[in-house]
Amino acid sequence: MGSKSVTRSEFMHRMLNFANNPTTIIGFTLTTISGLLLLIFVLVEFAGHGHNPYTSAFAFLILPALFIFGLMVMPVGMLRLRRRLLAEGTSAEELDRFPRLDFNDPNLRRVATVIIILTTVNVVILGTASVLGIEYMESVPFCGEVCHTVMQPEFVAYQESPHSRVACVECHIGPGAPWFVRSKIDGLRQVWHTALGSYSRPIHSPIVDLRPARETCEQCHWPTKHHGDKLRVFARHRSDENNSPSYTAMLLKTGGGRMDLGQHGGIHWWHIEADNKIRYVAGDDRRESIIWVELTTPEGEILTYTREWEEIPAPQELERQARTMDCIDCHNRPTHLFKSPAKALDDELQNRPDLRELPFFKKQALVAIQENGAATRELGMSHVETVMKAFYQQNYADLFSTQSELVDLGAELAKEIYGETHFPQMNTTWETHPTHIGHEESPGCWRCHDDEMTTSDGSRTIPLDCENCHVMIVEDEPELPDLGGALGG
Ligand code: HEC
Ligand code: HEC
Ligand code: HEC
Ligand code: HEC
Ligand code: HEC
Repeated sequence: MGSKSVTRSEFMHRMLNFANNPTTIIGFTLTTISGLLLLIFVLVEFAGHGHNPYTSAFAFLILPALFIFGLMVMPVGMLRLRRRLLAEGTSAEELDRFPRLDFNDPNLRRVATVIIILTTVNVVILGTASVLGIEYMESVPFCGEVCHTVMQPEFVAYQESPHSRVACVECHIGPGAPWFVRSKIDGLRQVWHTALGSYSRPIHSPIVDLRPARETCEQCHWPTKHHGDKLRVFARHRSDENNSPSYTAMLLKTGGGRMDLGQHGGIHWWHIEADNKIRYVAGDDRRESIIWVELTTPEGEILTYTREWEEIPAPQELERQARTMDCIDCHNRPTHLFKSPAKALDDELQNRPDLRELPFFKKQALVAIQENGAATRELGMSHVETVMKAFYQQNYADLFSTQSELVDLGAELAKEIYGETHFPQMNTTWETHPTHIGHEESPGCWRCHDDEMTTSDGSRTIPLDCENCHVMIVEDEPELPDLGGALGG
């Protein structure tokens, strides 16, 4: 029987019989339904109708996955049936025999046409879905909102930041295919941890394999341009009954530039690998303490700085751990900046001078925000509101009844600030990820500029002189002088 050839119709019949098994039928149904749904979503998308992050995740990630899964399951069912037939004694030869294809046969041409059309439709559906899927995965709602709880602290801070119109991927992935592929592979790991709930709370920072900042930030910023000094005004408020203001103004020597471009100097020029190159090794994985610093000067001289009393690793180990300083080593919170509640309250008191009429607003809001052991962000927020209102009702009953709008405003703002600084479900508060700009709330610049890091011969020290970094114009004054002159045009 080995040499007997099969006719085309016998072959088709056999294939259909193979297809007639539960696995293949389930696969076929999955692919058809998800394909049709996908088609509807694509049409809706092109018609320009808005969608929320969850429907998009369903449409452009889950449906294509089901579609492909269905396609893959179909042959599996057929192969299993074939194995069963073999086990039941049908000869492999018989099952493997193919008909002679004769394209003069109109029936065969019809079958071939159907196969070509179905394949084209599949390719078009999958192609469109991949384009939309990728576009969607690059979107802010996908990165910031789908895994709601996980990304909440970063997303909330992002929305308040100067970069709220810059997409997450501009900083986290940047241009080019290799980083795109890396990010997708890493993304799979993240989705897996999110699905299992096994992600760390808080999310670890710094991001160890973040793309070098020069390849992302410098798409938009041009630090080799010299900017001169920057006027910074810090408006603070005291915790007294009048929420009295107190102003500090300084010129920050941000500078920049490059020697071959003319003017250069200041904070940017010293650290960003334009002419100088700084490498360092941290003593902890948060990079909060720095134990070894190396400066390569424009002349090519190499200086290393350490603290006399501090142990440092062996040379190969230093070489392995050394990190070249870039934007992120100072601007580690360019967009996910968690202001302290005190600073956030100061900003509100500046923004809305009428709020200063609310006695002890700053003091009381700090109490409500900080003495708050709520288990969730939502509970914490409503606790703050309750505490604020109760305080004015008990202590300022007159004001509470005559100026209820002011009290409501104060309670509302305090509540919002709690929400921007506390994320109990992620074990994250404003203190979790301190900024490295400055030296007030964390060591920041003073991780190196502590007057103790010196070269081995003691000839050079990373300086702590206040005036190297900023020149005070006024300090802690109740009123801000006219700074028009200091702006220098
Ligand atoms: C302006 C650039 C920029 C944008 C835009 C941006 N990020 Fe970040 N992100 C950073 C930097 C810088 C870090 C800290 C890196 C470090 O210290 O290693 C960071 C850290 C993070 C972290 C780690 C945890 C932490 O708080 O340090 C997460 C999660 C994160 N970003 C998510 C997002 C999401 C989601 C978006 C969009 C909604 C986004 N980022 C937009 C620059 C950016
Ligand atoms: C896609 C463009 C883009 C990218 C990428 C980008 N930024 Fe910006 N950045 C901006 C814009 C636009 C502003 C000005 C916003 C404004 O004036 O409100 C800004 C403002 C800033 C400021 C001033 C903030 C302030 O408080 O005034 C700093 C600092 C900064 N960016 C640092 C960074 C760093 C560090 C990175 C890389 C991690 C980065 N940026 C990436 C567009 C970008
Ligand atoms: C040694 C620390 C340090 C490094 C490294 C650094 N910056 Fe800055 N940058 C600062 C400080 C400090 C300020 C002023 C902050 C302030 O306004 O309080 C600043 C301000 C800025 C501003 C706002 C300028 C303005 O005039 O408002 C931008 C934009 C900026 N940096 C971008 C960058 C970029 C991009 C890089 C990387 C190429 C970078 N910085 C590297 C410390 C640094
Ligand atoms: C990783 C270590 C490190 C950090 C962090 C760091 N610096 Fe520096 N900085 C250096 C080194 C090294 C020098 C060169 C010291 C020397 O001249 O011997 C330097 C020099 C400077 C100078 C020039 C000093 C002079 O002699 O005129 C300024 C200004 C400065 N840094 C500001 C800052 C500011 C502002 C920050 C924080 C936003 C900061 N640095 C953070 C390592 C650091
Ligand atoms: C290595 C650079 C550097 C040195 C040295 C330095 N500062 Fe600063 N300082 C900064 C930067 C950068 C900021 C701005 C922080 C910001 O943008 O929030 C700052 C901010 C401040 C502020 C305002 C803080 C606030 O939030 O109200 C005060 C006050 C201050 N510095 C005092 C000093 C004094 C006093 C010294 C000398 C003992 C000194 N600093 C040395 C970099 C430096």
